Amino acid sequence: MKKAPSYETQELREFARVLRGRRTIDQYIQTPVPEDLVHEAIEVATWAPNHYMTEPWRFILLGRETVGRVIDLCAEIVCAQKGPELGEHKRKTWSEKPGWLVVTCRYDDDKLREREDYAACSAAVQNFMLYLWKAGIGSKWTSGPITRDEGLFEIIGADPAKEFVVGMIWFGYPKITPSQVRQPVDDVLTKLP
Ligand SMILES: Cc1cc2nc3c(=O)[nH]c(=O)nc-3n(C[C@H](O)[C@H](O)[C@H](O)COP(=O)(O)O)c2cc1C
Repeated sequence: MKKAPSYETQELREFARVLRGRRTIDQYIQTPVPEDLVHEAIEVATWAPNHYMTEPWRFILLGRETVGRVIDLCAEIVCAQKGPELGEHKRKTWSEKPGWLVVTCRYDDDKLREREDYAACSAAVQNFMLYLWKAGIGSKWTSGPITRDEGLFEIIGADPAKEFVVGMIWFGYPKITPSQVRQPVDDVLTKLP
């Protein structure tokens, strides 16, 4: 039997470093992310696996005017639910997010296909985030209540009967990179004979 080629390459170690090192970033410096790079990251995202080649995703990149409308909506929702002080706090923290991308997934009458489509969209989001991370740019995937608010669908021009929001992805150069832990692989791996 032919021996497997050596996998102990620098390139592979570097790839693992990028995969492990990516962190959810909450705070960003205000340097804008080059638009061409974001475009590349979206193109790379579309190479995610997708069963039956459904390509179920849509990427909606928000400009400053639209971001302003989303922040107004969010501040309004939080203000109504938790009071004006928290509403204004949200407005401030959200105003500091440099880049905004909404990823949606098509609904499907076939629920199994829809589940697989959501999985494909999630893989696409991870591609997007990892590509940016390798370029020194952090991101945060949020699935908070705003992603299900009909006001958001109106602002971004999405039809809530046809698609749902997989996530709102903020991105930018990190101000703070937190550390994280994972369970040891032996705790999550079962090997069967
Ligand atoms: C589907 C999905 C939805 C998420 N939504 C939120 C969110 O609404 N708020 C939040 O703080 N983090 C959210 N996260 C980020 C996770 O909290 C984060 O990935 C986790 O804390 C692990 O940190 P890491 O990404 O740095 O490894 C979400 C992640 C995923 C995969």
